[in-house]
This record gives sequence, structure tokens and C-alpha cells, in this order.
Amino acid sequence: MLDWSDPGPAPLPALETNPAPAADPTGLGDIDRAGGRVSVDEKRMINCRADVNQLLPLKYKWAWEKYLAACNNHWMPTEVSMQADIALWKSRDGLTQDERHAIKRNLGFFAASESLVANNIVLAIYRHLTNPECRQYLLRQAFEEAVHTHTFQYIVESLGLDEGELFNMYREVPSITDKAAWALKHTQSLDDPEFRTGTQAADQRFLRDLVAFYVVFEGMWFYTGFAQILSLGRRNKMVGIAEQYQYILRDESIHLNFGIDVINQIRAENPDLWTTAFQDEVRGMLRDAAELEAAYGRDTMPRGFLGLNAVLCEQYMRFIANRRCAQLGLVPVFAETENPFPWMSEAMDLKKEKNFFETRVIEYQNGGALAWD
Ligand SMILES: [Fe+2]
Ligand SMILES: [Fe+2]
Repeated sequence: MLDWSDPGPAPLPALETNPAPAADPTGLGDIDRAGGRVSVDEKRMINCRADVNQLLPLKYKWAWEKYLAACNNHWMPTEVSMQADIALWKSRDGLTQDERHAIKRNLGFFAASESLVANNIVLAIYRHLTNPECRQYLLRQAFEEAVHTHTFQYIVESLGLDEGELFNMYREVPSITDKAAWALKHTQSLDDPEFRTGTQAADQRFLRDLVAFYVVFEGMWFYTGFAQILSLGRRNKMVGIAEQYQYILRDESIHLNFGIDVINQIRAENPDLWTTAFQDEVRGMLRDAAELEAAYGRDTMPRGFLGLNAVLCEQYMRFIANRRCAQLGLVPVFAETENPFPWMSEAMDLKKEKNFFETRVIEYQNGGALAWD
């Protein structure tokens, strides 16, 4: 039985392993008029020694490529037709009570989670990630989280749902509150205005926040949420929401991969942070997160419905947790588990599955398509 009031392992003693940053980590300090030009070698993920206001020269091409890929994936929720969803939601017997319950809980979980993720990026991660190409991606990601929050506003408005009920679920439904509270304690840990990276203990605190939000929130919990809605979409139910979730999933898979790359790059630059004890702690976080998700699965699908139930969702979470361990170079936390939703990987490939739900896909135009006359 997990005790969520547990503040977690005692912080490790502060070790002055990193030199004090030679450059201002925020980019808001006084301009160094006499400083030399930035060289790629000085650029660092955390505790930078180079001016953070200079994007070029690029060091981390993977971050820049993700920024470009994200811009190419632009979409807006209002471009997806909700007519079929509205008709189904208002029909007497188009959806079972179990399906309605699961849909509402799912929307309630995402509605507040998108804001929690956005706040963590803007108020915690951005401050301490001292690399301009990563910050460029974070700015794009923050906008995408705003688009995702907009999606839930649009769904609530389209279906005429009770906005108070949905947007308060993260406070009022214990299985959702438990997940939000678990992640929040890691961002709260960085909330102290005096908090600075630069010691082993502080840098590990920052890594814990990256794991909690990128790997757990966006990389584990969102995925069962996607599976629930996309499973309905495969049965031609709530196809508008399912299409919006496909777009969100495409964005989130880049968010997740960016977070994994950031963590692995920080590890490579600061090998003293990735101790055996810390690796075990991260594995423990992933294990706890899978348990929280299992409780959420039982709460959202007490009886289950066609193709989906709490047992399958728990199995999926274990499969995903092991995949995340592999991406971080960690020993798996669960025994080898088969993916119960192999169709999820198809749903992630929008190009290939363009007509997956037989709805339109917007091809975005760039500035070159504008006519000024
Ligand atoms: Fe999001
Ligand atoms: Fe995200």
C-alpha cells in the first residue's frame, strides 16, 4: 500500500561537484560587455557557462530538430468537426453509462493536467534549463500545452458538459488528485525562489522534476488516457475527440522524447548525478506512477467496456513503464509484459493512418502560401 503523504527519500547531502555558473543562468542579468563570443563547447544543459540569450551556434541539434518538427505539426482543436460527437453524446443509447463515465473522467484528468504541465515548463523547467535551443523548444511546447487546454475547453463547449465538474475533477476525484499531487510535489520542490542548480542534491531535484513531468505525466499517464479515447474512436465513437487526441498524442510523443533526451544529455554531462541510488529512486518513481495509474484505471472503468478494462490498462502501464526505463538506460521495473494495445503505435503515425477515422487532416500552410494582393 502506497502512502502518498510520504515526502520521499531524504534529500542527498549537498556536494559542491559543479563549479558556480560563470554566466547568468536566467539571461536577465547585466550584459557582459567585455565577454568573449559564445563557443559551442561552453554550452551546457544546466549550470551554463555561456550566454543563454544566443541561440547560435547550435550545440544540441536534437532540440532544434524537435522544435522544427513541432512547428510542422501545428493544429487547432476548432478545425475538427464535433458534429458526430454531439449527436452521439445527446443520443439516448449511443453510449453506455460505463463509456460516459470513462469519457468524463478522462476529459477531467486531461483538462487540468495540461495546465499543470504548462505551469511546470514555464515556472520551473525554463528557469533552470540553461540552453537556448532547449528553451526554444520549451517555448513551442508551452504553446502546444495551451492548444491542448483549448481542446478541452472546446470539447466542454461543444458537448455542453458541466465545466465545473470537469475542470474540478483534479481536486474532487481522488484517483485524479493523487496523480496530480504526486507530480506537483516535484515541481513544488523547485518553487523556492532561492533554489539554484549547481550541487549534486539540487541537480538531482531538477532531474526528479523532469522525470515526474516528462516521463511519468506526459510519457506514462497520458498514454492510458489516449488508449481509452482512441479505443472508442476505433469503434466509431466520439470520433472528433479521438481525432483531437491523435493530434495531442503526436505532440506529446515529441514532448516525451524531448524530456528523455534532456535527461540523458544532463546525465552525460554530469555523470555524478546518475548514481545507483538515484537510478533506483527513478525506477521507484516509475513503479509508483504505474500503481497510481492502475488505481485511476479501476476508478474510470469499474466494469470496463468492449476492448478496454482496468486490467488491460494496468498491463499497458507496466509495458510503458518498462519502455521508459529502457529509454533512460534503467533496469526494467516490471517483469516482461506484452503490449495489450499494439494498435496504439499505428495511431501515433498520423501520416500512415491519415484516414484512420475517415476524418479530414489539415495540411498546414506556411507563410509562403499567403497572398498579399
Ligand atoms: Fe499536452
Ligand atoms: Fe505535453
